[in-house]
Amino acid sequence: MATKFQDKIDRFKDRILVVDFGAQYAQLIARRVRENNVYSEIIPHNLSAKEISNYQPTGIIFSGGPTSVNAEGAPQIDPGIYELGIPILGICYGAQLIAVQCGGKVGRNEQGEYGRTEMTVSSPGSLLADLETGTHPVWMSHFDAIVEGPEGSLATASSTNAPIAAFESPERKLYGVQFHPEVQHTPCGEKLLTRFLFDVCSCSGDWTMTSVIESSVESIKQQVGDGKAICGLSGGVDSAVAAALVHKAIGDQLTCVFVDTGLMRADEGTQVVETFDRHQGIELMHVKAEDRFFEALEGITEPEEKRKTIGELFIRIFEDAEKQVQDAAFLVQGTLYPDVIESGTKDAAKIKSHHNVGGLPDDMEFELVEPLRDLFKDEVRSLGKELGLPDEIVWRQPFPGPGLGVRIIGEVTPEKVATLQAADKIVREELRNAGLEREIWQAFAVLPDIRSVGVMGDERTYGYPIIIRAVTSEDAMTADWARLPYELLETLSSRIINEVSGVNRVAYDITSKPPGTIEWE
Ligand code: XMP
Repeated sequence: MATKFQDKIDRFKDRILVVDFGAQYAQLIARRVRENNVYSEIIPHNLSAKEISNYQPTGIIFSGGPTSVNAEGAPQIDPGIYELGIPILGICYGAQLIAVQCGGKVGRNEQGEYGRTEMTVSSPGSLLADLETGTHPVWMSHFDAIVEGPEGSLATASSTNAPIAAFESPERKLYGVQFHPEVQHTPCGEKLLTRFLFDVCSCSGDWTMTSVIESSVESIKQQVGDGKAICGLSGGVDSAVAAALVHKAIGDQLTCVFVDTGLMRADEGTQVVETFDRHQGIELMHVKAEDRFFEALEGITEPEEKRKTIGELFIRIFEDAEKQVQDAAFLVQGTLYPDVIESGTKDAAKIKSHHNVGGLPDDMEFELVEPLRDLFKDEVRSLGKELGLPDEIVWRQPFPGPGLGVRIIGEVTPEKVATLQAADKIVREELRNAGLEREIWQAFAVLPDIRSVGVMGDERTYGYPIIIRAVTSEDAMTADWARLPYELLETLSSRIINEVSGVNRVAYDITSKPPGTIEWE
């Protein structure tokens, strides 16, 4: 593992640990904390109190969870945690767990509370100090309810089905809320978290992108020493930011390898070369491999075979390039925090074999440098900005490793790639013109393997359709089709048909994920 534990301790002064009890929202809690410039990290609930104290946390937040605290096998936490003297805030399940482990009681309700609920604040205490006594909307999701708070605690709020919607015991540094302060639907949530972080835990709020850069540069220097590193650039934001950060730390000891597969979006290859070679001054090995990819893809129509062919050839070419960088012992990867969290638990059925520059084979003998392992995507974008990367890269939408190869249904040919690139460029341009570029998770064109009859200028046409796919999403695990304005769809349709030869029809994909996937193959 690249980021060593001790290293993390040294890097960030304040640290809020989010203990995950199987919540939907553990990541969201960590992000909300970080939005206050306080570093936060998610840990599993089965660590011992000693292990938890080794992290030297400034404060601890217990997440919600799907089970009942009274159910057999419900996730617990080492009760030794309450003896550490570290402030603890429990949310939903987390609050109930504090109650039952510290002398209170949780009972089964006649009725649960799900969604928007009115909470009545009776005595604000320190956590709800910013709220007037009276009612406030909060977002609840529970069936069980706390009927007695931890011994000696004060109930500060209630709701119809949660007699104790918030409690606190300042002497024992225990705080709990039945509602979810981390979600947008709890307007007072932000203030409550701020109170916890700054009043209760006395955090300093000095975790900024500048401090992240400084500490990362320091730890990359320590890790790499005077060794050499290589980094595969995909054109995407993660590898770009990782490369820029590592370059800041070790300069010419880093070489970037950019394999141009010929399957990137229009102008993207040129832009990667311009940004890294010219502006950032990074040693860049630009491997032009278009012909090899097109040759390998000849006659292949089956999606998985296509993905495998592209992935394997990519690895072969990357390995050849890497051999030319003599004595490189380190491989830079743009692994993000959600990947780190998910790789611990993910056991999902394989839908597609993903390939990216992070998907290089295990037998490559490199030590990994993963400077973004602690960061969420939006933080990586801020970091990229801070490092001087252009908006086109910082705000680039996710793009699949196999590139346009999985957006061309059927055989991939240079002509089809050119057609798709032209249509895709229009989609991106018009989305930007409409000011929707940052709101839409991904928007692109797909070229299917069918043709249809049309009429243009009194002539019969027999051309390809272009399918536009635009989705909103938080994490690509689920997605909804974007409700693009009709005017935008109209502009897209007319520009694509007028400007892209061989295309006579435009369709809009209105499938969410699931049941569809974001990409077509
Ligand atoms: P799907 O199509 O599975 O895509 O809904 C989910 C997200 O992953 C991207 N994607 C890939 N990313 N290598 C990648 O790095 C791949 O092989 C790959 N295939 C899909 C896709 O663009 C979407 O953001």
